[in-house]
Amino acid sequence: MLASKNILLIIGGGIAAFKALDLIRRLRERGATVTPVLTRAGAEFVTPLSVSALAGHKLFQDLFDLTDEAEMGHIELSRSADLIVVAPATADLMAKMAQGHADDLASTLLLATDTPVLIAPAMNVRMWQHAATQRNIAVLRGDGIGFVGPNEGDMACGEHGPGRMAEPLEIAAAVETALADGLLKGKRVLVTSGPTHEPIDPVRYIANRSSGAQGTALARALAALGAEVVFVTGPADVPPPGGVEVIRVQTAQEMLAAVKAALPVDAAVFAAAVADWRVVGASDSKIKKTKGGLPKIEFAENPDILAHVAQLTQARPALVVGFAAETDDVVENATAKRARKGCDWIVANDVRAETGIMGGPENAVTVIDAQGAETWPRMDKARVAARLAERIAAALA
Ligand code: C5P
Repeated sequence: MLASKNILLIIGGGIAAFKALDLIRRLRERGATVTPVLTRAGAEFVTPLSVSALAGHKLFQDLFDLTDEAEMGHIELSRSADLIVVAPATADLMAKMAQGHADDLASTLLLATDTPVLIAPAMNVRMWQHAATQRNIAVLRGDGIGFVGPNEGDMACGEHGPGRMAEPLEIAAAVETALADGLLKGKRVLVTSGPTHEPIDPVRYIANRSSGAQGTALARALAALGAEVVFVTGPADVPPPGGVEVIRVQTAQEMLAAVKAALPVDAAVFAAAVADWRVVGASDSKIKKTKGGLPKIEFAENPDILAHVAQLTQARPALVVGFAAETDDVVENATAKRARKGCDWIVANDVRAETGIMGGPENAVTVIDAQGAETWPRMDKARVAARLAERIAAALA
């Protein structure tokens, strides 16, 4: 699966470094060549000898190693790789990456390359949740850095929460996905995302809690597989991904127009939380408060964009995927929704407030198609996106 792929593996300094040894094995048994780089702190946790022995490859540790500079050079080292994997990616390494520091071999390699990078963060839960780390994560995601994990669970320091490095098998799967580019080459895919805003007057509107995180992650994952992505987004909380065509809209009616203009496409994924209703006769000027009087708001139903596209008789996309945010009887309701709207798949999720899914970093979905329902474990929205993108690629193949 990874035959003839060159992976540059940077092992940072964290207790999870021991899992990097198993990761090397997992990558090699899939056919990859692993070139290891061990940071100074990483060498406090695993020995250079075990890393190079398992990798079956020379280990690189120092920025100023004149022999290596003459032979290969740090720039060559990172550019000859198909993928750079950082595991464990410590809070410090991530901060360096976000800031563009280059004061040791690992950070210099990461700065001196345009090779795709996948990181497996590992740190204490408070370090992960710290505002500084969260800022760095946003910067790194914006820079197109791929993430796998961290997972939630017990930590070596005795605390519990997000911060555990993803397991070697999960990282190996993420590496395969990251290198599976080209699976969607030549395919045009439409993604709707975010909420819509339905104006009441020029300053007030009706909206919902959708952050656009899942739709954005999906567009990024589809683009990473080589698709030409048209991304129609309402006013979302997260910035759109790079490398896609972005069309910004406010209302459901604008979203429908943008979707129609984007057709034909090979696949269309409707992740947007479209407002079901709009205000009839939204006022052109701000509605004034009047003594004793409350404004009367009349609603009209918005067009169902997903149903419109799913039921096209001409130029219908080969695959139409809807989402279903439900609070009760998730699978049952979503299955009925799939039939009612006429789409091929429905990705259902439970958005009761206590799940923390709407607006949160994780999602737990059930994919419903003609064959039945497939429930996935709860995971990062980026992982859900990667798996969905792969499933879409397989369906279009
Ligand atoms: O009916 P419901 O809003 O639960 O359906 C959700 C699915 O339908 C999502 O895929 C959403 O993007 C899509 N939808 C749409 N246009 C609407 C309402 C929902 O495309 N007006």
